[in-house]
Amino acid sequence: MTGGAGFIGSHVVRQLINAHPDYRIVNLDKLTYAGNLANLDDVAGKPNYRFVKADITDFDHMCSIMSEYQIDGIIHLAAESHVDRSIKDPFTFARTNVMGTLSLLEAAKRYWQSRPEGFDGKLFYHISTDEVYGALELNLPDEPAPYGTELFVETTRYNPHSPYSASKASSDHFVRAYHDTYGMPVVISNCSNNYGPNQFPEKLIPLFINNIRKGLSLPIYGRGENVRDWLYVEDHAKAIDLLFHKARVGETYNIGGFNEWKNIDIVKLLIKVVDRMLGRPEGFSDHLITYVTDRAGHDLRYAIDSTKLATELGWKPSLQFEEGLERTVRWYLDNQAWIDGVTSGDYLKYYKEMYDGR
Ligand code: NAD
Ligand code: TYD
Repeated sequence: MTGGAGFIGSHVVRQLINAHPDYRIVNLDKLTYAGNLANLDDVAGKPNYRFVKADITDFDHMCSIMSEYQIDGIIHLAAESHVDRSIKDPFTFARTNVMGTLSLLEAAKRYWQSRPEGFDGKLFYHISTDEVYGALELNLPDEPAPYGTELFVETTRYNPHSPYSASKASSDHFVRAYHDTYGMPVVISNCSNNYGPNQFPEKLIPLFINNIRKGLSLPIYGRGENVRDWLYVEDHAKAIDLLFHKARVGETYNIGGFNEWKNIDIVKLLIKVVDRMLGRPEGFSDHLITYVTDRAGHDLRYAIDSTKLATELGWKPSLQFEEGLERTVRWYLDNQAWIDGVTSGDYLKYYKEMYDGR
C-alpha cells in the first residue's frame, strides 16, 4: 500500500488487515501534511502490518523496498489530492502524482521481471479519481438528482481541468502504458468524492463541520451550484479490496454512489446536523454561509456510472448519504483532538493565505 496514512489509505489498510489476516501489509507513506499515523493507531501493533516512511519519487528507495519486502501486489494511493493546493503549487502535484507513480511502476516492473515467475500472480492497482474525465453539464430540472443526462463511464474521454486532475490523468496513462508496453498486470479504478472519518479538514465536508462547530464562516465557491457524487470512505475501501482480488487485469472500473448533491444543499444539511448534535436551535449557524470568489477552473458536475463494478462484481454502496453524514459529523465532534492535531502549524498558515482577501 502507498499513501496508507492518508484519508482513504488508512481505511483501506484497516479493511485489508481485518479481512486478510494472512497477508503481510507494508504501508509506504511519506507522511506529508496529509499523512497521519494517528489514523492507524488501532492497527499499528498487528503482527502482519509494517509502516515504512518513504517518498514514492525516490526510485532507488522504491527498488530496495520492493525486494526487501518481496512485494507481489501494490495498491497505490499516495498522491497530492487537494485541487486548491494544485492551483497554487502545480509542480508538487506533477512530482508526486506523475513522477512518483512512474518511479513506483518502474521499480515494480524491474523487481517482478527479476523473479523466476515474472509477472505471474502480481498486480499493480492504481487508485484514481473521476476528476480525470472533466466536467459534466447541469441540464436536468433541479430536483431530484441526477442533475444532468450524462454520467462518467469507463470509456469517457479524459478531459482534466485542474493541475490535480491533469496529474492524476497523466499517472493513469503511465499505468496503462506499462500494461500495453511491458505486459505489466494493472488495474485502475476511478472513484467519486469520498467523505467520512479522518479526512483532512481542508476538503469541503470536514472543513465545514469544523467551522460550524467553531462559528467560523463557510466559504462557498461561486453560487454553490456545483455537483459532486459522494461515497462513504468505507464503501470505497471495500470496493478496493474487491477489485484487488477480483478485477480483470488491464481493466478500469468506476466507483461511485449514484449520489449527486449540490454543494449548497450539503452545506445546509451539515448545518442542520451539526447544530442538532450540539443542542443548538434550528437555524443557529445559517448566517455562517458566505459566498466567495469561485475556484479557478471549477468543474460544474461530477457523476459516476458504476454499473460495470455492480454487474461484474456485485458491489454496491452500503450507506445512504444522510446516514453516512451523521456518522461523519459524530466522528468529527467526538475527535476534536485529531482535528487540532492535524490543523496546527503549517496548516494554519496555508488556511490564512487561502482565505484571506476573499
Ligand atoms: P490524502 O491527501 O488524504 O492522503 C494522501 C497520502 O499520500 C498521505 O498519507 C500522504 O502522506 C501520502 N503521500 C503524499 N505524497 C507522497 C509521496 N511523495 N510519497 C509517499 N507518500 C506520499 O488523499 P486521499 O483523499 O486519501 O486520496 C488517496 C488517493 O485516492 C489519491 O490517489 C487520490 O487521488 C484518490 N482519490 C481520492 C478521492 C477523494 O475524494 N479524497 C476520490 C477519488 C480518488
Ligand atoms: P473538495 O472537497 O475540495 O473536493 P473536489 O474539489 O475534489 O471535488 O470540494 C468539493 C466541492 O466543494 C467543490 O465543488 C468545491 C467546493 N468547496 C467550496 O465551495 N468551499 C470550500 O471551502 C471547499 C474546500 C470546497
